[in-house]
Amino acid sequence: MDPVGEKKWGDILSWIAISVTLVIAAVDGRECNFPAIFNFGDSNSDTGGLSAAFGVKYAPPPNGITFFHSPSGRLSDGRLIIDFIAQSLDLPYLSAYLDSVGSNFTHGANFATIGSPIRPLNTTLSQSGYSPISLDVQFLQLSEFKARSKIARKQGRIFRELLPKEGYFSEGLYTFDIGQNDITAGFRVNITSEEVNAYLSDVLSQFSNVIRNVYEEGGRSFWIHNTGPLGCLPYVLDGYGYSMRSDQLDKLGCAKPLNKVSQDFNRKLKEAVVQLRKQLPEAAITYVDVYTVKYNLISNAQKYGFKEGLIACCGHGGKYNFNNGARCGATKEENGKEVVIAKSCKDPRSRIIWDGIHYTQAANHWIFQQIASGSFSDPPLPLNMACNV
Ligand SMILES: *[C@@H]1O[C@H](CO)[C@@H](O)[C@H](O)[C@H]1NC(C)=O
Ligand SMILES: *[C@@H]1O[C@H](CO)[C@@H](O)[C@H](O)[C@H]1NC(C)=O
Ligand SMILES: *[C@@H]1O[C@H](CO)[C@@H](O)[C@H](O)[C@H]1NC(C)=O
Repeated sequence: MDPVGEKKWGDILSWIAISVTLVIAAVDGRECNFPAIFNFGDSNSDTGGLSAAFGVKYAPPPNGITFFHSPSGRLSDGRLIIDFIAQSLDLPYLSAYLDSVGSNFTHGANFATIGSPIRPLNTTLSQSGYSPISLDVQFLQLSEFKARSKIARKQGRIFRELLPKEGYFSEGLYTFDIGQNDITAGFRVNITSEEVNAYLSDVLSQFSNVIRNVYEEGGRSFWIHNTGPLGCLPYVLDGYGYSMRSDQLDKLGCAKPLNKVSQDFNRKLKEAVVQLRKQLPEAAITYVDVYTVKYNLISNAQKYGFKEGLIACCGHGGKYNFNNGARCGATKEENGKEVVIAKSCKDPRSRIIWDGIHYTQAANHWIFQQIASGSFSDPPLPLNMACNV
């Protein structure tokens, strides 16, 4: 099922870009053939982790309405960028590591959870809304997963059909999309640039520790997304307590202070990647500029076949169809029955923003096509060549 509908010029151009790079890849035979994906992140790439651990209320219906037709632990109407990554590498959708029912980890695992920060925040999920499964915990899970998979596979057949081969941990692709929650947790109105600088430096040093630890465990291919333009999300614009003044909005209506912090984070992330390349000589580390792709999409929504750049599809009222007290899927009791008051719009395929914080499947697919070609990567290699051979 193609979520995108009619081909638009952007799609055609990226199709050409992908085709050209595929031809180049085929000519010099540098395709990586990743046998597995190990993903680390937050709600941008959670495929069921937080729901498995804390309940489906964290990704209630109508999440999943377009593609899985039931809540799948993802915050979107359908697939996420990580799903399109898996699909394009001919691998199954990733099971969440924390999901003990029906999971199949032969081709990797997903450690991401909704609300995960890089740094542990020392608050519970119910206090702050941030997940306790921070990036350092996700790394510990990978380490356990690797050690215990090796032992379990020796025990026999069913484990061999559920867990990755030992070699997959070094041949696999390690993907990262995390940092957004550190930014929103650390940011406040009137924060000074020195303070921003200090907390971002700490966040990025903890990020680099995890990359080094994964390398120690044998990981060699890293695909790292930078963070998106957080100032363009309805939950920042309305309802998160930042209440931006009109002179703090850019020409698209995005909050400049939050986009500035996102860009500061991205600049430091890129610097961290440069340092990591020096420290980890056998690693292939690809830095992917998702920020530019998302901002470009929001800037040119109509040109790419979308309506309503900043208005959420699923929500309940407010300027951006986002209400922090009644997020997508929120219910109310009416005559003794629970009824959903924050519903999906008629056609999620025509929207970019799904629930005020996350993107629709149609937007995720568009973003995936842009980044898979390598046009937004440093080094500029397509996804299927992001390894050292
Ligand atoms: C969480 O607590 C630890 C130990 O007290 C501390 O080192 C760390 O800085 C705290 N994290 C944050 C984000 O405040
Ligand atoms: C898990 O997935 C792999 C690859 O898709 C498949 O070969 C294997 O049979 C599956 N395991 C089970 C128990 O179904
Ligand atoms: C932020 O600074 C402005 C101007 O300096 C001041 O009017 C405002 O009260 C401050 N806001 C907070 C939350 O401190």
